[in-house]
Amino acid sequence: MSLKEQINTSKLPDHIAIIMDGNGRWAKKRGFFRNIGHESGAKSVKKIVEACAELNVKFLTLYAFSTENWNRPKLEIDLLMKLLISSLKKELKTLQKNNIKLHAIGNINSLPDTVSKELSDVIEKTKDNTRLTLTLALSYGSREEIIKTIKEISLKVKNNLISPENIDISIINNHLYTRNLPEVDLLIRTSGEQRISNFLLWQIAYAELYFTDVLWPDFGKENLYEAILNYQKRERRFGKTSEQLNE
Ligand code: FPP
Repeated sequence: MSLKEQINTSKLPDHIAIIMDGNGRWAKKRGFFRNIGHESGAKSVKKIVEACAELNVKFLTLYAFSTENWNRPKLEIDLLMKLLISSLKKELKTLQKNNIKLHAIGNINSLPDTVSKELSDVIEKTKDNTRLTLTLALSYGSREEIIKTIKEISLKVKNNLISPENIDISIINNHLYTRNLPEVDLLIRTSGEQRISNFLLWQIAYAELYFTDVLWPDFGKENLYEAILNYQKRERRFGKTSEQLNE
């Protein structure tokens, strides 16, 4: 049986989030400039989006550019932004054809105008699609997101719109960038690093974490199937005992 056939389609993760890491090392190993690694990484994005749509995974969130990535050399940032624009332009048709909705989280205002315009255009054109929600985390940092949330809630408390004793998980969820997304079930990080790097800190509270040594440009559909199969072998207890789950 192929890996894909072994997947239990009734126990799929609803929401997969991925820290796509290792583009630079992939390029370096081959004596290429880093941007070639990012271009190959964009090809992996296409394959993984396609695999998720085929499997019927409903939400895929990709860490495409972190707030910390602004500290990279200007040339690399410029090339990444260009790659984003060209990928958005190129893939709009595929998104439409496959009924995929594009969404973005992060400090979108801090992106160059050319990127945010292209992004809003694709988001607007795909807004009614329902098969898969593809979320790009762009200029995203989880701590900044949490600070923004605290500020918004504090202001509402100050204006008597929320009373402090009513602040609960759902109020916080409703103020995060991810307010329209379910909690993450499976978080994948490629390239051998075992860190979260300021990605969805609140939202991964009960996610299963999966780390692989495969570099992002080498990460293909079979690697995704392996991650999902590994996830399906785990028992998600959400704080309960095994016995309680089997009652
Ligand atoms: C991490 O590899 C990757 C990034 C910072 C950028 C991710 C971007 C892409 C996969 C390409 C385009 C994306 C879309 C959505 C079309 P790294 O540069 O940190 O690699 P290293 O750790 O080996 O140096």
